Amino acid sequence: MGTRLAIVGATGAVGRQMRRLLETRDFELEGDPVFLASERSAGTTLPFAGREVEVRAISEDAFDGVDIAMFSAGGSRSRDWAPVAAARGAVVIDNSSAFRMDDEVPLVVSEVNPHAATMRPKGIIANPNCTTMVLMVAAKPLHDAFGLTEAVATSYQAAGGAGQSGIAELLTQAGAMIAAGDDLVEHGSAVEAGVDAEAFSKAIAFNVLAHCGTFADARYTDEEWKLVHESRKILGLPALRVSPTCVRVPVVVGHAIAARLTFSQPVERAAAMEALSGAPGLVVEDGTGLDGESLAYPTPLASAGRDEVLVGRVREDLGDPHSLNLFVVGDNLLKGAALNAVQLAELVAAERA
Ligand SMILES: NC(=O)c1ccc[n+]([C@@H]2O[C@H](COP(=O)([O-])OP(=O)(O)OC[C@H]3O[C@@H](n4cnc5c(N)ncnc54)[C@H](OP(=O)(O)O)[C@@H]3O)[C@@H](O)[C@H]2O)c1
Repeated sequence: MGTRLAIVGATGAVGRQMRRLLETRDFELEGDPVFLASERSAGTTLPFAGREVEVRAISEDAFDGVDIAMFSAGGSRSRDWAPVAAARGAVVIDNSSAFRMDDEVPLVVSEVNPHAATMRPKGIIANPNCTTMVLMVAAKPLHDAFGLTEAVATSYQAAGGAGQSGIAELLTQAGAMIAAGDDLVEHGSAVEAGVDAEAFSKAIAFNVLAHCGTFADARYTDEEWKLVHESRKILGLPALRVSPTCVRVPVVVGHAIAARLTFSQPVERAAAMEALSGAPGLVVEDGTGLDGESLAYPTPLASAGRDEVLVGRVREDLGDPHSLNLFVVGDNLLKGAALNAVQLAELVAAERA
């Protein structure tokens, strides 16, 4: 039995990856997927499996007969329309932050807590925030082995985390910055002030912004609070101590996180490497280039377009035998968003088989 599937936000950066994954993975669809977006896109078409499929504006009857609706069009669309889709019988997989901390909505990383996806009294499953998602894939096998108690996490988040407009802003500014030439060396603040910044609060090209999302409680941003609350919920560790700093970097796609993880048990590198090797959805790239090792560490660029989360620079902490330092990287549009959503759709479809 095939699945009737809808994508809300089919024209967006994440929606585009969802469409590609549905074409390339072994997902049995019934008929063409329903592609929904704003009024701006209604009536246009998107290619899918060799055909052109029309994009429609969201409406109540757009969800008629839909088994699974993947939402990726921002929180307000999810708040307004996810309950409508669920009431019409669809299982909603929501990529926005609208329902992530709702006690009646499971927050699921397919490799970490897939069992939680079956308990969905509202008919909605939430996809975690992209940075948290990437970190969780590496943290879970270490937590299982040593008992996670604390995470100090600094993210290096791609412009693509802000969608198509974030990518466009980075690429446009990059051209202008190159043209600025020596001013980048001698008059940086004037160059920064002269740039039109809309998707981000300051120039993102050739820059590093200690500001991701919106400032919120205790001078942390909402993006930083997502790392705190979502990590606790996914791992089932309400007392987990999380110290986040989220930073935007001039990368198109690929979020990186430098993390210091602390455990209830002492942890040695060899045992950590054993726990990480072969963990689902994770690839270890870790080598110093010394003592016969090849040089290997993950980068955002190398993660772009890859399904797996990459982990490297695994080191025992210099001061605390209970802590490890590591560097985790993942494609924010794939594992950080579209891939996990499609993996959850596969879990739901398997329930129906
Ligand atoms: N980018 C990431 O790395 C990432 C990671 C995790 C989660 N997310 C979440 O995924 C969602 C989409 O992100 P994105 O990066 O794909 O953004 P995007 O590239 O800006 O795409 C936004 C999508 O939402 C649609 N949309 C906007 N307003 C709408 C409306 N009033 N009614 C119906 N559809 C509307 C857009 O349709 P039009 O083309 O017609 O405007 C487009 O398809 C957001 O909730 C975001 O927080 C993104």
